[in-house]
Amino acid sequence: MSGQRVCVSDFEDEARKVLPKSVFDYYRSGADQQHTLTDNVAAFNRWHLLPRVLRDVSTVDMSVSVLGHRLSMPVCVAATAMQRMAHPEGETATARACRAVGTGMMLSSWATSTIEEVMSAMTSSAGGAVLWLQLYIYKDRELTLSLVRRAEEAGYKAIFVTVDTPYLGRRLDDMRNRFKLPSHLSMSNFTSASLAFSEGNYGDDSGLAVYVAKAIDPTLCWDDITWLKKHTHLPVIVKGILNGEDAVQAVNRGVSGILVSNHGARQLDGVPATLDVLEEVVKSVDGRCEVYMDGGVRRGTDVLKALALGAKAVFIGRPVLWGLSCQGEQGVTKVLELVKEELRLAMALSGCRSVSELSLQWLFRRRRESLRRHWTFLCHQLRSVHSLLRCSQQMFF
Ligand SMILES: Cc1cc2nc3c(=O)[nH]c(=O)nc-3n(C[C@H](O)[C@H](O)[C@H](O)COP(=O)(O)O)c2cc1C
Repeated sequence: MSGQRVCVSDFEDEARKVLPKSVFDYYRSGADQQHTLTDNVAAFNRWHLLPRVLRDVSTVDMSVSVLGHRLSMPVCVAATAMQRMAHPEGETATARACRAVGTGMMLSSWATSTIEEVMSAMTSSAGGAVLWLQLYIYKDRELTLSLVRRAEEAGYKAIFVTVDTPYLGRRLDDMRNRFKLPSHLSMSNFTSASLAFSEGNYGDDSGLAVYVAKAIDPTLCWDDITWLKKHTHLPVIVKGILNGEDAVQAVNRGVSGILVSNHGARQLDGVPATLDVLEEVVKSVDGRCEVYMDGGVRRGTDVLKALALGAKAVFIGRPVLWGLSCQGEQGVTKVLELVKEELRLAMALSGCRSVSELSLQWLFRRRRESLRRHWTFLCHQLRSVHSLLRCSQQMFF
């Protein structure tokens, strides 16, 4: 009998026990040496909270508008592929949990449930929520557009196009495990075995890396964002931006939002933690579209910090998979409720009554402050050396 799960890592510990090793490894891993994986989480500890007091926090408003939809909290579910490896109800259980909590879910192109199944799971349960489709652009553009059409017809509200995966990152565990889907599952939105990731043999490599190299278009460039926008009436959000210049390019292409993401550290190891580049992206965008972030968000205080740095909302990936693995729909609901309650308490203890109040004033960055102090000290020393040199010059010459 397991004890009470009181934080996201309790769910992770239990998921590790219940999942087959190759599935847990696939969900948990980052790319290569996993430096960025660690840093995504560590980045939140580089910021400290600066609470305000005596501000009547008896009610705290966590609701937020994302792409025009009112959500109960600024924490949404990121696209994570192949959720039926975690639980037989997979993405449909996650959708019902989002509905119950009143938040948004981004469905992966690589879901093990169809676009239509997930929509009907969400609309058949009580509550208020929204579904968005995450899109990979395939070499076969007609196939890509057929996913978009299906999402439009089913009632999805936006397309999040992933731009950081021309090839799959080197995920060493998946390579060692020769990762592929269990034979009873497939990527349900595709019919042929080669596109549904259900071929028998992918050789000695990570099966998913082989799949991506075969199917996903590595020639993508900015014109393809314009192409996608031309083919859908849904808002397009670019997922996978890590610097201000790319953010400006995206804005110039007319996107409705930018998701600052390094794909949960699963693509290029060594890139910065998403929290560390969020401020730059927010500044570059300068209010011209909504900015969200994902990567390493594990608790309410993380959400508060990301929002104070300018994110409109955050997305969580792995924590949802841990909840799903432990207890299906109920587990995902518990994880979402847990983070929501942590956020409510963090806001109240910080003296913040509404997410719209959050700004840099609520944060203190220890490293930056100490760097500033070192710099001031250095300048002072240099000035002393300089005046010493001038004195000696006057004395001797
Ligand atoms: C197991 C797993 C599968 C993922 N599948 C996808 C996917 O199909 N499409 C995509 O754009 N991102 C995918 N991602 C990345 C997530 O959307 C998100 O960027 C990341 O998980 C956020 O980091 P976090 O897990 O630390 O919260 C996946 C991440 C994980 C962990």
